[in-house]
Amino acid sequence: HQSDAHIFIIMGASGDLAKKKIYPTLWNTYISGKYADEDSFSKLDTHIQSLPGGTEANRLFYLALPPTVYHDVSKNIRTCCMSKKGWNRVIVEKPFGHDLQSSEELSAHLSSLFTEDQIYRIDHYLGKEMVQNLMVLRFGNRIFGPIWNRDSIACVVLSFKEPFGTQGRGGYFDDFGIIRDVMQNHLLQMLCLVAMEKPASTSSDDVRDEKVKVLKCIAPVTLSDVVLGQYVGDPEGEGDSKLGYLDDPTVPKGSTQATFTTAVLYVHNERWDGVPFILRCGKALNERKAEVRLQFTDVPGDIFGNQCRRNELVVRVQPNEAVYAKMMSKKPGVYFSPEETELDLTYKSRYKAGASLFLCAEKHCKHRNQKDVKLPDAYERLILDVFCGSQMHFVRSDELREAWRIFTPLLHRIDKEKPKPIPYKYGSRGPTEADDLSKKVGFRYEGTYKWVNPHRL
Ligand code: BG6
Repeated sequence: HQSDAHIFIIMGASGDLAKKKIYPTLWNTYISGKYADEDSFSKLDTHIQSLPGGTEANRLFYLALPPTVYHDVSKNIRTCCMSKKGWNRVIVEKPFGHDLQSSEELSAHLSSLFTEDQIYRIDHYLGKEMVQNLMVLRFGNRIFGPIWNRDSIACVVLSFKEPFGTQGRGGYFDDFGIIRDVMQNHLLQMLCLVAMEKPASTSSDDVRDEKVKVLKCIAPVTLSDVVLGQYVGDPEGEGDSKLGYLDDPTVPKGSTQATFTTAVLYVHNERWDGVPFILRCGKALNERKAEVRLQFTDVPGDIFGNQCRRNELVVRVQPNEAVYAKMMSKKPGVYFSPEETELDLTYKSRYKAGASLFLCAEKHCKHRNQKDVKLPDAYERLILDVFCGSQMHFVRSDELREAWRIFTPLLHRIDKEKPKPIPYKYGSRGPTEADDLSKKVGFRYEGTYKWVNPHRL
């Protein structure tokens, strides 16, 4: 019989991550000690045992720590703090190493201490509503499946944009850069969910098996398929935007670290051969936005005198969660010409309080409760998943290995040759060279249409 009591231990309690993301979802006790010191961990264990139900309780260790102390802390947990009666789980935060080799070393170390089903590697994008929705949209509908391939899709664009710079995190950021910070994990995870085959079931391992398969079909990214940028201050801007990356005092002088990257990847399998996956991410850009955009091919045999624009299906991850399909429709009225419009599922209008929902004949219909849905923060969901023992939204070691395999040759080359990133102004769209690259590989930007939120009559 296993106990129902849980004790949640945060390592790295004074860190930025804990403050911003973990505390809001938790209440806690604080115990101080030294990461490398076994005695501190024995004391911790004694304390845990002294708590009501402490000896039987399950233990969840959250390693919100800098990579330098991972080895010691995980070892000390294993040696001194494991629950003997309940389960033990560890939550691990990135960076999971800085390249294939260092990541493999970390994985080997962790797997010498814990089993894979005790390790929960967080990529918090996997806890986001719309990222989780990708699987339901794809595999819970008939309308998308048959066109979700190279016959109908011209390209896929995965974007991550932030309107602020390093904000004092320059020290950490400069060691890693935007590729390691965002592209190799968050964007690649989204790519997996867009590109993978339908899993045999929704069990954690069936889903993760499919993600690994997709990654295995991606060749390492080469520098010729990449545009690197670094933001500079905007002299006409206000406040922070006057300052460039190199003006951040925590950034080493003359650093060539990229704060913006566009990279093109190809999935060499029967479904996707030849379709570019354009991954774009950057700091200090013109807006905050994360989205998945599928651009469809032109309609063959056009009869509308070239007036039709390509369809696009957009899954807007944040802010303002939405799914919308850009499509052509007859211009209303006495015309017979096509015009751009969209089918739009904007969460704020569809799920907000008082939104008129489809009526259901049943008296106590569940659907009525769907009003005013609160979307939990990614961390709320993920932490809950750990308690429930569900690993679907966590990164398995073989997934991680494949992700590093794809980016390591590029990262090593950049680290070694230090190519100069293209400067772009704080608050801009990033280097225009990135748009040129997207265009070159097949993305068509018309600029004739802008999605607005929320749509009102
Ligand atoms: C983190 C990166 O993983 O994700 C940060 O280290 C980035 O650089 C953050 O700002 C973005 O997360 P969110 O949830 O705000 O989009």
